[in-house]
Amino acid sequence: MKARIEALLNEIENLKAQKEQEIEEARVRLLGKKGEITKLFEEFRNVDREQKKEFGQKLNQLKTLASAKIEELKEKAQASAGAAGASQNDLSAPGDSYPLGSRHPVSICREEIVKIFRKFGYDVAEGPEVEDDWHVFEALNFPPEHPAREMQDTFFVTDNEQKNPILLRTHTSSVQVHCMETMKLPIRVICPGRVFRNEAISARAHCIFHQVEGLYIDENVTFADMKQAILLFAREMFGPETQIRMRPSYFPFTEPSAEVDVSCNICHGKGCNICKGTGWLEILGCGMVDPNVLEASGIDSKKYSGFAFGMGVERIAMLKWQVKDLRNYFENDLRFLKEFESNI
Ligand code: DAH
Repeated sequence: MKARIEALLNEIENLKAQKEQEIEEARVRLLGKKGEITKLFEEFRNVDREQKKEFGQKLNQLKTLASAKIEELKEKAQASAGAAGASQNDLSAPGDSYPLGSRHPVSICREEIVKIFRKFGYDVAEGPEVEDDWHVFEALNFPPEHPAREMQDTFFVTDNEQKNPILLRTHTSSVQVHCMETMKLPIRVICPGRVFRNEAISARAHCIFHQVEGLYIDENVTFADMKQAILLFAREMFGPETQIRMRPSYFPFTEPSAEVDVSCNICHGKGCNICKGTGWLEILGCGMVDPNVLEASGIDSKKYSGFAFGMGVERIAMLKWQVKDLRNYFENDLRFLKEFESNI
């Protein structure tokens, strides 16, 4: 027995199994149910009393050494398998890409509107979002009792009873006034910007939205010039087949005023649920600048005339891309925003 223990000790010390399968075979051969060491433990029962202590120690030593060796070989095998795996990686493969952001649909649409008017020779002007009553209402010929001047419609920063209160602009028409006050004639500008109205939020209304205002002032500007500019814009924006129609309307700052519809780009005038069966979609308000408005900003209304128009960016974007709920523009749900990635 002693000789077998010595032989096994020697064998274990020199054990060189590398593959996991070889190691497992060695474990079974030595420590398995019918393994060499297990057999020795069975024989140990028959060993003489005097020799029990000596053999017992030797056997335990053998078992510990065998288990430790098997563990060591297993660890080595796993480490080298890991290293081999790593070296199989394709180091030239492209890395994981970062998700890229994209332009917001409202920005895309605003840029498109601006780009079209730039092509027609319009400059871009911007004005403050926090305004005074003069630029938003007074200089635009709003009578003192006009409902827009009530707290229900306008966010006031200062008391609305005081003279020329400060407020959040309710339309970008206020930028017209700045342009007329400061720019040299003739004026041909487009004014994109954010506006604020004290409205309940719904699918069709929001308290914050965007508008683009247009203004053209020169000698002999006529209603026909306005109609032509708007028609060309509509065709650039909604396609070359687009028709427009003008309906008489009222705004304090224009006379005469009109609302403009474009032929429905979904059903091409046949009538669908987007145009509510009419074949037409309203896109903007416009008119000839009221002489009172020209005079309020120091422009001679006998010599000069002009037209103005204003449109909601979200509305144009809704019509262009058939977005049914305005709130989508403000919630920034990535599933919605991603639909516009290709429009950058
Ligand atoms: N400011 C108007 C609004 O917010 C839009 C508008 C209508 C602007 C007619 C104009 C215009 O310049 O001529 O509803």
